[in-house]
Amino acid sequence: MVGEIIDGKAIAKGIRQELAGKVAAFKKKRGTVPALHVVIVGHDPASKLYVRLKQTGAEEVGIKSVKHEFDTITEKKLLELIDKLNKDKAVHGILVQLPLPKDIDEKKVIMKISPEKDVDGFHVINMGKLFTGDENLLPCTPLGVIRMLEKEKVEIRGKDAVIVGRSNIVGKPLALMLLKRHATVTLCHTKTKDLASHTRRADLLIAAAWAPKMIEAHMVKNGAVVIDIGITDVNGKAVGDVDFKKVKERASKITPVPGGVGPMTVAMVLSNTLEAAEKQLGGYA
Ligand code: GUN
Repeated sequence: MVGEIIDGKAIAKGIRQELAGKVAAFKKKRGTVPALHVVIVGHDPASKLYVRLKQTGAEEVGIKSVKHEFDTITEKKLLELIDKLNKDKAVHGILVQLPLPKDIDEKKVIMKISPEKDVDGFHVINMGKLFTGDENLLPCTPLGVIRMLEKEKVEIRGKDAVIVGRSNIVGKPLALMLLKRHATVTLCHTKTKDLASHTRRADLLIAAAWAPKMIEAHMVKNGAVVIDIGITDVNGKAVGDVDFKKVKERASKITPVPGGVGPMTVAMVLSNTLEAAEKQLGGYA
């Protein structure tokens, strides 16, 4: 079987077009546009790129985007900034790009963001809602995977989903989202014994380990849908967690890296910003 390549770039473009229409309707009704405020500290090149993509995406769909960029900042000043943005009614979404410098407590910063404006879905209130099945603002990368599967008409209900990687922002929330949609979920990680024995059972295999090409062809069931989230710079080239060329021969559908999940994550930041703005302004029905 030769897998169909899932074009995340094209799906994300379609979603941005839909969002542009919804943002225009929001503007007509409210006389204002949703506003996303992005905070970035330091010089991490990947973080700078992600922030740029989120900002250009926002502008494309008509969402106002404001960047707060600092070479360095104290934790106290950063918390004060978030407090100010929380109180500002003209700010609908707040996103603090991670990682933050080591001298700043990331958890404290995330906890300071008002849960209603937490477009990353990282606040424990939003994570807690996800845990209990009352999904609110959801983390953007796992949400992007779910939207992508929906657009591709991949059935989730009753399927064996195996996730490799248990991070708080990807693996764990994705496990809960798939569970809510009635998949049978296995969450694997670095201490998993005989990883291949799990991955080979997967109808839906999701790699989020940030370990280049760790998923080899023999680890994949024939006909599986394979979603590659990990992305690592290897000698200046973006390489995914899946050995794409070989795994493509077994999968029914597979995402490439780049051009798979990445553009979906950015689209979901925009979708969450609109959702947050609608909720703050009481919807626009
Ligand atoms: N760093 C890596 N991924 C993310 C993300 O989804 N959101 C934020 N804020 N920072 C990140």
